Amino acid sequence: MKFHVLTLFPEIPRAFFESSIMAKAVQKGIIAYDLVNIRDYAFDKHKTCDDNPYGGGAGMLMMPEPLNLALKSVRDKIGRKNWSGKNAKKKVIYVTPSGKPFTQKLAQELSQEDNLVLICGRYEGIDNRIIDTWVDEEISIGDYVLSSGEIAATVIIDAVYRLVDGVISSESLEEESYSDGLLEYPQYTRPEVFEGKGVPDVLLSGHHENIRKWRLKMRLAKTLRVRPDLVCEARKNGLLNAEAERMIEEITTQ
Ligand code: ADE
Repeated sequence: MKFHVLTLFPEIPRAFFESSIMAKAVQKGIIAYDLVNIRDYAFDKHKTCDDNPYGGGAGMLMMPEPLNLALKSVRDKIGRKNWSGKNAKKKVIYVTPSGKPFTQKLAQELSQEDNLVLICGRYEGIDNRIIDTWVDEEISIGDYVLSSGEIAATVIIDAVYRLVDGVISSESLEEESYSDGLLEYPQYTRPEVFEGKGVPDVLLSGHHENIRKWRLKMRLAKTLRVRPDLVCEARKNGLLNAEAERMIEEITTQ
């Protein structure tokens, strides 16, 4: 999988690509990346990339020409076959607070692509003709407004690359929050007593069945407390068996 990030501030996503598990995935050749500085495609001597919006209004917009040229350069690098051929697996994403919500399900879908092109907006956004011409998906990472698209694009890249085969073990992915619609159970490591606080007895018992039940109950209790909407969703999707429903009954009548 290759990420192509179009940005006015490549140093922001670069720090992520050069760190930790991502750096290892890049080294192993599982993930590749290309940071495209939109300013390199500006054509006046000041390298201007923004202008006032038609119709008036506050703030500046990113001009279409530099973005258009930057996107063409990415298309040339990927090659027509991989860009729009019958078996092409590529998506052009514009990260924007007006996009559709980013979820684990969408991250799963995007992890199946071969090339992801992410456009990072600055100022008040980008000229809409770029969206009409180039963009497959507009994605928002949440109902709040960031000052730049770089952080939002990096969030999307992080959630997606770790799902690409070979980056992280499948066992770790199966157990984590959202994989089956519930939040994670609490975890503990040594020491057994930390500042007077112990570890739940069941985790020290070595009784695997009791540990499994305790963890499921903890997941249900936490999800009911902080994200009751996810419990409804899991039920709707048939992910809660009779045991889970019994535990919910216990938790809510306690
Ligand atoms: N750019 C600014 N805010 C954003 C958000 N919430 N999601 C995606 N891109 C953004």
